Amino acid sequence: MTSTRPPYYLDCDTGIDDALAIAYLLAADDIDIVGIGSVSGNVSAEMGAVNTLDLIALAGRSDIPVAVGAHDPQGGVFAGGAPHVHGVNGIGEVALEHSPVGAIAESAAELIVRLAREHEGELRVIAIGPLTNIAAALRLEPALTTLVKELTVMGGAAAVPGNITPVAEANIANDADAAAEVFAADWFITMVPLDVTMSNVFLDEHRDALIDSGRPVAVALGHMLDHYFEFYVDVYGHRASALHDPLAVGVALGDLPVMSAPVVRVVVDDTSGPGRGQTICDLRGYLNGFPEQSRAHARVVLSLKEDFAPRLLERVLLV
Ligand code: RIB
Ligand code: CA
Repeated sequence: MTSTRPPYYLDCDTGIDDALAIAYLLAADDIDIVGIGSVSGNVSAEMGAVNTLDLIALAGRSDIPVAVGAHDPQGGVFAGGAPHVHGVNGIGEVALEHSPVGAIAESAAELIVRLAREHEGELRVIAIGPLTNIAAALRLEPALTTLVKELTVMGGAAAVPGNITPVAEANIANDADAAAEVFAADWFITMVPLDVTMSNVFLDEHRDALIDSGRPVAVALGHMLDHYFEFYVDVYGHRASALHDPLAVGVALGDLPVMSAPVVRVVVDDTSGPGRGQTICDLRGYLNGFPEQSRAHARVVLSLKEDFAPRLLERVLLV
């Protein structure tokens, strides 16, 4: 029997906040997670797939197909990831038991195209890593823009500084060429940038609640956060973690009351200058309630009505 629940595909570079995002997605019992693909970013695509498989196995969800995606960014070479942020293994050196299930034979780009055709007009795609796989899928199937129902991207910085250069956010900067292609394609994108993900944080009280729950996934995430918190001490001045990727999943699921999310034009700088990787969002209407723009194709989520952390904690404790 065909499911009537909305199908979701997640593209990720698992990653500590990716792990939180996966847990948040797993907690949603009114959707079908039809596939997950990995891409190099925080770790290599191969390691990202292992982390994903191990985490979903811990949650008892090895039924979800996981595909390994692009190792290298378009026209470049994978630079080695972010061990200083996410640990050498990408999940804060937490050793998860290895999944008995491996990745499927298809690449992530092939999986996206197949799922988009199987669920024509229904597939929701959430990208929380570099956009290499999404751009590759677009090249495999240019009609992807019409086959996919929604594309939500964690990435970019609209009116705040970048986190990897003064103007560029990591997911976009790690493959600016792919990001430029994805943002130039003829589809509507919901963009979840640093503007909103840096101002929603987990603190030690959330980390402690995860560990005190005794639930295997929550406990593993709590220990991962110890590593992430250390990186963010220099950013926030105290132990905390930004909630980039789970927040994008929350937006994609329609769970979060949004305060400001103008629909504007967005262009990605793919030049080789100091602006490379910048998401140039046309926010010039900010003093006037963001009047309608011609050719606007991205909803840029700038702020939420509520703090996201309590909701994230509540959901993750369900897994
Ligand atoms: O800039 C934040 C993004 O980069 C998140 O997706 C995080 O996982 C990192 O890769
Ligand atoms: Ca990520």
